[in-house]
Amino acid sequence: MKEEENRSYPLVLVDDEDNFRNAIARRLGKRGLVPLQASSGQACLDILGLNPVAVVVLDVKMPGMGGMDTLKAIKQRHPGTQVIMLTGAGVICDGVEGIKAGAFDYLTKPVEIEHLANKISQAFDMIRLEAERKTQARYREKLEKKMIDTERLAALGTLSTGIAHEINNPLAVINESAGFMSQVLASPEMQSIPRRDALIKGLEKIDTSIQRARKITLQLLGHVKKQESACSQVDIIQLLNDTLGLLEKEIRDKDIRMVRETGPAACMIWTDPYQVRQVLINLLDNAIDAVKERGTITLTVLETEDDVRLDIEDDGMGIPEKNLGKIFDPFFSSKPFEEGTGLGLFVVHKILSKLNGKIDVQSRVGKGSCFRVSLPRHESSGPDK
Ligand SMILES: Nc1ncnc2c1ncn2[C@@H]1O[C@H](COP(=O)(O)OP(=O)(O)O)[C@@H](O)[C@H]1O
Ligand SMILES: [Mg+2]
Repeated sequence: MKEEENRSYPLVLVDDEDNFRNAIARRLGKRGLVPLQASSGQACLDILGLNPVAVVVLDVKMPGMGGMDTLKAIKQRHPGTQVIMLTGAGVICDGVEGIKAGAFDYLTKPVEIEHLANKISQAFDMIRLEAERKTQARYREKLEKKMIDTERLAALGTLSTGIAHEINNPLAVINESAGFMSQVLASPEMQSIPRRDALIKGLEKIDTSIQRARKITLQLLGHVKKQESACSQVDIIQLLNDTLGLLEKEIRDKDIRMVRETGPAACMIWTDPYQVRQVLINLLDNAIDAVKERGTITLTVLETEDDVRLDIEDDGMGIPEKNLGKIFDPFFSSKPFEEGTGLGLFVVHKILSKLNGKIDVQSRVGKGSCFRVSLPRHESSGPDK
């Protein structure tokens, strides 16, 4: 019954003259165009209010709400519906006025049934075209947005790597100098200087800040040593197991349930294992942060001819819609200052572009998130060596 209420109707025929309407409906029905019937403008609007209707064939001359007013109301409330007007013989101005008000076309009475059937199918074609145009426009818009995102992230990547390099040198100097000052303060002749404790506290603060800045520059530069980074045949399942081993403590501390959806026993791909491990660590780190105590993280590996697909899904807090476009930006973090750097996903994105991989995310607040990583399996489509 519910389905019945919500179905969409292809065609409604509106005319106050019952005989005429029934005759036209019968003849259209013989051509496979079975219309719903309405005996007034209001009855037609009532139908449209409940169900989407593609095409309305509308008599201009009706008592009560006239055809022209009905047309205007239809176009205002249901702009996607196409309206064919039926005007009295010799009253062309009604038809022209109708077209101005948004009608698809008009026919004069008495109506040639073949002509009306043709017009109706033209209106259906128009609706199909319009729908296709809309889908294409939406697709183009999505594509353009993705390209802007990718370009923006690439530019940000270059910029932040440059900054990280530049910051590393002064950071090393600050670190050395602070270390030197600590040593001086520890020497016997400094034991009784005034405000020594305050100086030590100050140096401790400098050290904490250096550690944080270090963490950021290391993440930005990707702390894989150059000689470690190289492509080879890698068993992605083995790599996943190794990575889970590294995060064992965090998983245990939070009593997290790790679910492995049965995947292949081994899955060889041509890639850089150190970089992929970094991707896995960053994504699992976030999933661990997102779930509550005793939450669940589900890992699924799926092989296709050309790709391997890895889903990391958690039942944690989820990501608000307004943040979804920002999570890959450098320094975007919703976590407290001491906990988040906002670089994990940025680095993930950077590594995956280098490895010719992809990442997608789906998330619902309060339900959880799923990050899907795809990597090419074969050397030919894999990362450049
Ligand atoms: N699995 C997840 N569940 C909920 N939010 C997430 C998840 N992964 C990432 N996020 C959001 O994306 C932000 C950026 O993540 P990331 O770049 O790793 O930085 P950080 O973890 O340091 O905050 C996080 O602060 C969080 O808001
Ligand atoms: Mg993170």
